[in-house]
Amino acid sequence: MLFDSYANSVLALANRIAMAPMTRCRADHADAVPNDMIREYYRQRASAGLIISEGLPVSDRARGYLNTPGLWNEAQAAGWKQTTDAVHAEGGRIFAQLWHCGRVAHAALHADGSSPAGPSIRPAATQTMIPGPDGKPVSADCGQPQALSMQEIHGVVDEFAHAAKLAMQAGFDGVEIHGANGYLLDQFRCPRVNNRSDAYGGSLANRYRLLLEVVDAIAAEVGPKRVAVRQSPYGPGNDMIVDPEPMKTYPWLARELNRRDIGFLHIYCQTADWIHDARHSMMPALRDAFHGAIIACGGFKTTPACEAILGRGHADLVAIGKPFISNPDLVERLRSGAELARWDNRTFYASGAAGYVDYPAL
Ligand SMILES: Cc1cc2nc3c(=O)[nH]c(=O)nc-3n(C[C@H](O)[C@H](O)[C@H](O)COP(=O)(O)O)c2cc1C
Repeated sequence: MLFDSYANSVLALANRIAMAPMTRCRADHADAVPNDMIREYYRQRASAGLIISEGLPVSDRARGYLNTPGLWNEAQAAGWKQTTDAVHAEGGRIFAQLWHCGRVAHAALHADGSSPAGPSIRPAATQTMIPGPDGKPVSADCGQPQALSMQEIHGVVDEFAHAAKLAMQAGFDGVEIHGANGYLLDQFRCPRVNNRSDAYGGSLANRYRLLLEVVDAIAAEVGPKRVAVRQSPYGPGNDMIVDPEPMKTYPWLARELNRRDIGFLHIYCQTADWIHDARHSMMPALRDAFHGAIIACGGFKTTPACEAILGRGHADLVAIGKPFISNPDLVERLRSGAELARWDNRTFYASGAAGYVDYPAL
């Protein structure tokens, strides 16, 4: 099952293993152009059925961390073309994850010093990395957000659509909209963070309006079957409250996405527990609501764990994160039952090649 191919009407994947999106902070903050080391990192991992890139900010103001490569201008698209070519030459497929950090940000990360963008003015009680006095990263509390105006909200939709267009130009096979983990689109969903009283706040339909406008704009650009949406049900990360009505919220969204006929719904269980529990009601409810491919993520480390959720029919693909950092040939290791190398979390967001492109294949 795990090693079987997957296809929809426009895409064919060699196996059911996706590499989960992982921010690695290896670009230069000044231009956010992906470099040769980034190309090599993805090339090494091209045996995944589908690579989902690290989150790529869709504009300068969408940035929330230091040194994340972006996708808002031609130079960045040309840089990514090198990566997608290298992945394709190895027979792999790669989606761009499009990202707006919203209030999880700091003015020091933005070229024009603009403050973080939020649905409302409640700051994120979490930290990010900004350049210190000597340029080296230092951690800092997230900045005071400004509530996006109606015009700015339309601008955000345009930024996502423009990034999707650049993604196609850069040779990506599709795009994933980062709607999870407490970033801008998830901030709009969250009833504690979103205090708006206009068409983008209040009811569930209003709180998901921005995400669905982004989906529609991107689907018009790249075709619905090349679109994935990521959600993190129950996830408290980045100062979210756990959704008060999860069994209403996420299946509602899944039905809306199903109506739009998008290719993929990516579900990340931050706590790596309920997604592995066959009796939990979330995945069956999403399966009923959404008939494209469901990608499941969170704590999948072994072939039997992956095959269990595929076998239940609750997912079509499994996304694996940290094990891919330290095992570039993870697919082959899972296939052969070889031992997995351990990752070093000190180099997750460090600079340079160590802990990035120097993990050997078997
Ligand atoms: C270093 C690191 C960076 C991450 N960056 C992102 C990201 O850019 N976008 C995203 O949606 N999730 C991100 N995640 C979450 C992963 O996609 C994944 O959901 C998480 O690692 C759980 O999967 P695992 O248990 O297989 O590692 C990141 C995780 C790690 C460890």
